[in-house]
Amino acid sequence: MNPTDRTLEPSVKEAPAHAAPTTAPSARWREERVTKDAPTPVLECVDVDVRYGGFVAVRDVSLPFGHNEITALIGPSGCGKSTILRSLNRMNDLVDGARVDGKVQYWGQDIYGPGVDPIEVRRRIGMVFQKPNPFPKSIYDNVAYGPRVTGMDVDSMDDLVEQTLRRAALWDEVKDKLKQSAYGLSGGQQQRLCIARTIAVEPDVILMDEPCSALDPIATLRIEELMVELRDRYTIVIVTHNMQQAARIADRTAFFTADVDETSGDRTGVLVEFDLTSKIFENPSDSRTEDYITGRFG
Ligand SMILES: Nc1ncnc2c1ncn2[C@@H]1O[C@H](COP(=O)(O)OP(=O)(O)OP(=O)(O)O)[C@@H](O)[C@H]1O
Ligand SMILES: [Mg+2]
Repeated sequence: MNPTDRTLEPSVKEAPAHAAPTTAPSARWREERVTKDAPTPVLECVDVDVRYGGFVAVRDVSLPFGHNEITALIGPSGCGKSTILRSLNRMNDLVDGARVDGKVQYWGQDIYGPGVDPIEVRRRIGMVFQKPNPFPKSIYDNVAYGPRVTGMDVDSMDDLVEQTLRRAALWDEVKDKLKQSAYGLSGGQQQRLCIARTIAVEPDVILMDEPCSALDPIATLRIEELMVELRDRYTIVIVTHNMQQAARIADRTAFFTADVDETSGDRTGVLVEFDLTSKIFENPSDSRTEDYITGRFG
């Protein structure tokens, strides 16, 4: 499997020139590395609505996710952040009654288009969940699992496991107990192992839904540092309720809220504002964003 091939099925089309792997710049903080110009999108929502049965959970979301950037999705509970995140790698396919309208484009290709394999979509666009969920297997086998089941052409699985654990900033802590159960690790270590498991299959994009909410502040900072390291190689989309976290690590931030229908009382998530993180936190354009980030609402 060629990690630089970004088509979702064999021979659909060549990956665009700008999809070539970047040479990794050293980890820098957001203001230095991103400009206000629209990002080069790896993934892009175009007029996306998501329904659960007859209920419209989010509507009209158009949002680009920039190459080698961290994008944070923030907003009050129930505004559809997880729903949108799951639409980005067809995880909603697994949710009963969920329906996605509009387009989600991966390097310009609609991931919901005919002939696209959702398994391949989820290999390219991996996901890390709120609660660390390692498999009931050894540390080694957790990392090797994805490469094995996807039939990756691997010269040495030992090397791949080591390299992946190093990339996930976990190697030094686990190198002497690779054959022990992943359940013996701390919560923060388990979450880094889940990140390792995700990156072992060489994805392009990592989606993270509140990945630190079950962790203490030290483990949280460790994961944040790791995300900043990983963005040189991957595109990251993170849902977080932690405003400081978004401000610390995200290059751009999207603020969502829920519109309430006066008649039915239904709450539908909408994207209010998407911009550089510094702009969202220091000088938002919409008063709803300001009310939320200053704690007046939500
Ligand atoms: N599987 C489901 N079936 C039906 N409705 C759902 C389902 N999942 C989410 N919803 C509804 O969709 C809306 C958006 O939910 P979602 O979980 O995306 O919000 P969220 O912004 O991630 O919230 P939180 O911050 O609490 O995690 C909510 O009204 C929720 O009740
Ligand atoms: Mg959620």
